[in-house]
Amino acid sequence: MCGIVGYVGPQSATKVVIDGLRRLEYRGYDSAGIATIQDGLITFRKRAGKLGILESELEQNPLLNTHTAIGHTRWATHGGPNDSNAHPHISADGKVAVIHNGIIENFTELKNELLKSGVDFQSETDTEVVAHLLSEAMNVKDAELADALRSVCKRLRGAFTLVVVHADHPDLVVGARRNSPLVVGLGTAENFLASDVAAFIEHTRTAIELGQDQVVELRADSVHVTDFDGNAAQTSQYEVTWDIQAAEKSGYDTFMLKEINEQPKAVADTLLGRIRDNHIVLDDLKFDLDVLKSIDKIIITACGTAYHAGLIAKYAIEHWTRIPCEVELASEFRYRDPVLNEKILIIAISQSGETMDTLMATRYAREQGSKVLAICNTQGSTIPRESDAVIYTHAGPEIAVASTKAFITQVITVYVFALFLAQVRGSSMDIEALVREVSDMSAKVDVVLDTIEPVKQLAEQFKDASSVLFIGRHVGFPVALEGALKLKELAYMHAEGFAAGELKHGPIALIEPGVPVIVIVPPAKDSVLHEKIVSNIQEVRARGAKTIIVAEENDDIVEQFADYLIRIPQCPTLLQPVVSVVPLQVFAAEMATVKGYDVDQPRNLAKSVTVE
Ligand code: M6R
Repeated sequence: MCGIVGYVGPQSATKVVIDGLRRLEYRGYDSAGIATIQDGLITFRKRAGKLGILESELEQNPLLNTHTAIGHTRWATHGGPNDSNAHPHISADGKVAVIHNGIIENFTELKNELLKSGVDFQSETDTEVVAHLLSEAMNVKDAELADALRSVCKRLRGAFTLVVVHADHPDLVVGARRNSPLVVGLGTAENFLASDVAAFIEHTRTAIELGQDQVVELRADSVHVTDFDGNAAQTSQYEVTWDIQAAEKSGYDTFMLKEINEQPKAVADTLLGRIRDNHIVLDDLKFDLDVLKSIDKIIITACGTAYHAGLIAKYAIEHWTRIPCEVELASEFRYRDPVLNEKILIIAISQSGETMDTLMATRYAREQGSKVLAICNTQGSTIPRESDAVIYTHAGPEIAVASTKAFITQVITVYVFALFLAQVRGSSMDIEALVREVSDMSAKVDVVLDTIEPVKQLAEQFKDASSVLFIGRHVGFPVALEGALKLKELAYMHAEGFAAGELKHGPIALIEPGVPVIVIVPPAKDSVLHEKIVSNIQEVRARGAKTIIVAEENDDIVEQFADYLIRIPQCPTLLQPVVSVVPLQVFAAEMATVKGYDVDQPRNLAKSVTVE
């Protein structure tokens, strides 16, 4: 949700910042802007729309070559996506430029105060108050920019990453963070600030993740971090393990297609080092095993696609461990006064590790005495840092807004954790056999991808459908939800996922001749579930639906009921989502392409949702 880049060093600051923004555009693409300091004056360009529009503006109206700059790509919250609401925001005296990610909750109160003192506002954003407050704070004799920002931050409520420059300090960028991410990139005689390491990975892989309520002063040769009171803060460096190719398209038309095709590797990487002699090994899990032995309930909390991974986890956890498990949308969790205590383990699932709804649910659960395990893809991000323990998914950077490889690795990770729990609690199940099945999943995803071509033609076939329905049973139900979410977010089509057994309780009224219904069929050897879904298929066909059946390669029963048949490899019911979701991802990406939409950056969305 908004991408931020700051740079100080010998290179062309405009180039470094624009290159960084390109890698952060997944975080928001409603507008983009950049500010530099030239001859003691703030100079800026900002334009509504994608980064390309700002780049065209810079070609026609270039900035002078400077060595300090800040840049922003926006996902709009306060004020529509137009030029004046684009960041940076400049103080009335023209000396301060501010970029911001997050929401300043008390901005109305602060704005009223500034209006009363005669400040003229140029935008409808919450951010602009910071530019004016900072300018006021800098008007005090001998004021330092970092001191001024610290004092302003103390007046703000909400979530914010702020990065600022001041006309009188051409070699300095100052940043602050509360609840939204900000990472420092440590270079040689140059330093970087960004919402995500992707922005500076081509220059340095050494990073520092800023902590909660910290301020950083960035110069070419120094980085100084304090808390909001100005006390020096402890920081720890880490090395980014993935390389620049991982953040590039590598010959694919879109990041999403690249990421779909990376899924076999992502699954294998997530399992790497976690299986030994057909047992699960989680050496780096910072949990006392007694905690895992004593819990009597699990609550999973997450949003969007990660929530769907959580729904699948519930089936695996309850079946393999017999521990009761609930799954709850993170945005609802803390507002309903849930019953929590130290016997309840919370699992927070998040690709980015920054989703505000999930972060707030995590904090709330810990305040109530529950332990939190994060399942996360982003090293050093806020949710794992604020959890009691973390298991990282090793999907690598996921750039496309629609989540694919992160989802599959989340599902794999919950299998790993559920089997580990079963092991720790002395389950009598044949865990070795289950671990072998999980290990086979990477190769099975590969098989699906090798035979995916016919799915692409389906998009052309159904591009004019007014609605697409997805049905499934058991773990096929969350897969149906995920298939529908992908189609909504990428192809802007009405799509719904249903538990197939629920059709008769209402949704079947949506079926009319020609409506495409995508059916996720459980393995044929799971005869009870299989028989039931065959009945559901007949119910929709009897009402004229066109059935697109996703079924195992040996399943010849469903063939006769399929208008279109998509084959997936055989696997146990609980593991089937890892293969059955892949054709649905490809279908949605292809549908967006056929309709001429932007696959990687669908409208109104952002990759990392850092507002509640
Ligand atoms: O980073 P997170 O996993 O916490 O993100 C959660 C959702 O915002 C995310 O999965 C979203 O639903 C995706 N765009 C779906 O493709």
